[in-house]
Amino acid sequence: MAEPVQTPQAFSKRIFSGIQPSGGLTLGNYLGALKRFAEKQNEGIDTIYCLVDMHAITVWQDPAKLRQQTREGAAAFIASGVDPARSILFNQSQVGAHAELAWIFNCVARLGWMNRMTQFKDKTAGKNAENASLGLYAYPSLMAADIMAYHATHVPVGEDQKQHLELTRDIAAKFNHDYGVEFFPIVEPVIEGAATRVMSLRDGTKKMSKSDPSDQSRINLTDDADAIATKIRKAKTDPDPLPDTLDGLKDRPEARNLVNIYAALSGKTAADVVAEHAGAQFVSFKPKLAELAVAVLSPITTEMNRLLRDPAEIDRVLGQGADRAEAIARPIVDKVYDITGMIRSRR
Ligand code: TYM
Repeated sequence: MAEPVQTPQAFSKRIFSGIQPSGGLTLGNYLGALKRFAEKQNEGIDTIYCLVDMHAITVWQDPAKLRQQTREGAAAFIASGVDPARSILFNQSQVGAHAELAWIFNCVARLGWMNRMTQFKDKTAGKNAENASLGLYAYPSLMAADIMAYHATHVPVGEDQKQHLELTRDIAAKFNHDYGVEFFPIVEPVIEGAATRVMSLRDGTKKMSKSDPSDQSRINLTDDADAIATKIRKAKTDPDPLPDTLDGLKDRPEARNLVNIYAALSGKTAADVVAEHAGAQFVSFKPKLAELAVAVLSPITTEMNRLLRDPAEIDRVLGQGADRAEAIARPIVDKVYDITGMIRSRR
C-alpha cells in the first residue's frame, strides 16, 4: 500500500469518531469509545462525534428502529459526558459531504485493499457474500470520508477499527500522491486504555458485540442494576484465583477480560487491579466488579432514559450539530471537487 506523504503535525489536532446506531450500545462501546470521547473533549481540541446512520444501513435496518436507535445513541453520547455545546454531535446522513467524499474515495481506493478488510470477511463469514450489499463492501471508504471531510488528525476507537484506519491513511496518501497535493492529513488511530477490546462475558476469545445472539454475552447500556449483577455473576471464568501479576493472566482470556473491565471502569491499570486483588477468588471479585459497573453505568442509563423522553430535543441537538459539522466539511469537500477537476459554476 502507499507510503504516507505527510504527518498529521501539518494540520491542527482535530478528533473525529463515530458509532453505528445499528442496535443497543454495550459496555464495549462505552469503555472503548464513549467514555474516551468525553475525556478527549476536555483536552481543549475540536471533537466531532457522529452517529453513522448511513453505515448502519449497509445491513438491513428497520426504519422506525433505526430512528429510535439513532436517538438512543445520541442520548448515550450525552449521558456519557459528551457535551453538545463543546463537541459537535450529529448524525451522518444530515451532512451530505460524507457521501460525496465517499464517492471520490471509492475512485481512489483499490479493490485489492477492500478485499483485505477482515471486517467484511467476518460479517459475511458463513453467509453468501454475493448477497452482501455493495455498501457493506465499500463501508471503509465511507468511514475514510467521515474522517477526512473534517481533516481530522486523531481518531479514538477500539482495537477492532484499526484496519479501517490504516485504510483511511492509505486512501488519503494515495489521493495526495495522485493529485500532487498535501491536502489530506494522515490520521493517527488512538487506541489506548485498559479496554480497547472488551470481550464477550460468555467467551473470552470473542469481542463483546451488540450483534451477538446471546444477551448474556454483553452488558447493554440499557441494562438495570439487577441485569448487570446477574450477567457478571454468570460470566464465564476459570477456577483459579487472581494472580499477583498480569503475566499470570496470559492464557486466561475470561479472567483477563474481567480484570480489564474493572480497570477501565475504575480508571486504574490492569496491573494495579491484579496487585490489589491478588489471590482473590471470582466469587468475591465478581460482586465487587458488579458493584463498580452499576455505580458507573446506572447514572448513565438514568440520564439516557431522561433524555429519551424528549425525542424532539434530541433531534434539535443533532440538527444543530449537523449545521456546525457542515460548516467545516463543505469547504473541504468543495476543495476536493476543485482538486479533482470538477466544474463548480452554480451560483
Ligand atoms: P461500532 O459502531 O461497531 O463501534 C463504535 C465504537 O465502539 C468500539 N467498540 C469496542 N471497543 C472495545 N471493546 C468492544 N467490545 C467494542 N465494541 C465496539 C469500536 O471500536 C468503535 O470505536 N466503523 C465504526 C464506526 C465508524 C467510525 C467512523 C469510527 C464509522 N465511521 C469514523 C471512527 C471514525 C464501527 O462500526 O463502530
